[in-house]
Amino acid sequence: MFSFASLLTTLLVAVSIAASPVEIRDSPVTLPMARKLNLQGGTVNLLQHDQARATALKDRATSGLDRRTGSAPITNEAVSYIAQVGIGSPPTTYYLIVDTDSSNICIGTDTAYVKTSTSYDTGEPVEVDYSSGSIDGTEYTDTVTLGNGLTVTDQSICVAATSTGFTGVDDILGLGPVDLTEGTLTKEEDTTISTFTDNLYTQGVISEIVVSISFEPTTSEEVTNGELTFGGTDATKYTGTIAYTPLTTTEPASYYWGINESITYGSTTILSETAGIVGTGTTLILLASNAYSAYQSATGATLDDTTGLLRITLTQYDALENLNFNVGSNTYALTPNGQIWPRALNTYIGGTSSYIYLVVNDLGTPSGEGLDFINGQMFLERFYAVFDTTNSRVGFATTSYTDATTN
Ligand SMILES: *[C@@H]1O[C@H](CO)[C@@H](O)[C@H](O)[C@H]1NC(C)=O
Repeated sequence: MFSFASLLTTLLVAVSIAASPVEIRDSPVTLPMARKLNLQGGTVNLLQHDQARATALKDRATSGLDRRTGSAPITNEAVSYIAQVGIGSPPTTYYLIVDTDSSNICIGTDTAYVKTSTSYDTGEPVEVDYSSGSIDGTEYTDTVTLGNGLTVTDQSICVAATSTGFTGVDDILGLGPVDLTEGTLTKEEDTTISTFTDNLYTQGVISEIVVSISFEPTTSEEVTNGELTFGGTDATKYTGTIAYTPLTTTEPASYYWGINESITYGSTTILSETAGIVGTGTTLILLASNAYSAYQSATGATLDDTTGLLRITLTQYDALENLNFNVGSNTYALTPNGQIWPRALNTYIGGTSSYIYLVVNDLGTPSGEGLDFINGQMFLERFYAVFDTTNSRVGFATTSYTDATTN
């Protein structure tokens, strides 16, 4: 059986980083991420996962930040990007899902927490509700190391006592805004917990609170083709310049990495400028129902009952136009090939190998609700993304994969 753990380990030894955690680094620090399809329960149900997640994310509009009232079905992550994280001294390695839509670090579901002299039990109960699962546990503080030297001491972590929705991973590395930690310490509803990225900054490891993410399209079930950069950007991973847009003020998108954008298919507007989010926790690109319907009519796609995805014929594929994400004065054109699921992976999602499935789907609610799109992994595989807390903005750039025809 293929081990993403060994793949990561192999790659990590190739990443050399000076181990001096108190010094401000001149150059950002990067580490690889492995991409993994979760085949738990047979085939991957992309749509079910993504829609459940979208519902849970939007539930915050009504329940506020302290507690979610939504009861979306729990579905394991379908496609995850996994980072290797060391906790304790000496560190034990945990494999955590990289999630920009949540902000706690949680461990303990797959690999049991190994306490060392740096582990401190705060005695605080913690509860983190993910859109793809939930965790109840206890707060500890400990030394957390990513890569070969991105180290934070006294980082709050949640050690799971019970969890749902996580299989074969040790839970989550949250890279979202700090406000999403509010209420996770159940006895202190209004308290936030400093995130790993915030602590890298306050402990002097990085000089800007910035996380950049590079994903690449793939036709493999598991591959290490992602890269996470803390404290800046990695110029080898994008082409041209990074253009930034301010974080949206519209709720509930503003709880996450939310931006305003409009979407056109060819020259037809299918979603007028509105707020939505950019996130690693969603695989597909989800559009408000009205925009999704407009996209379906424009492409002539039919709904495939087996996968829940839209399906097009080869003739329709040949006629497919760019799907343009207009952010500020910049347009990010998702090519026809970027709009289809990698055909080599059709059978993993319960599809037929000769079919052509689209990665654009239905958010499940109409536009005008403050979270009208999710630019998920299929978007991030074509555009480099910068999550910049210091300057309250998100940046995008094209990459050498933007126009690739790998799918
Ligand atoms: C985003 O859109 C909303 C609603 O249209 C608007 O109020 C806001 O000023 C826009 N820009 C930002 C940065 O939120």
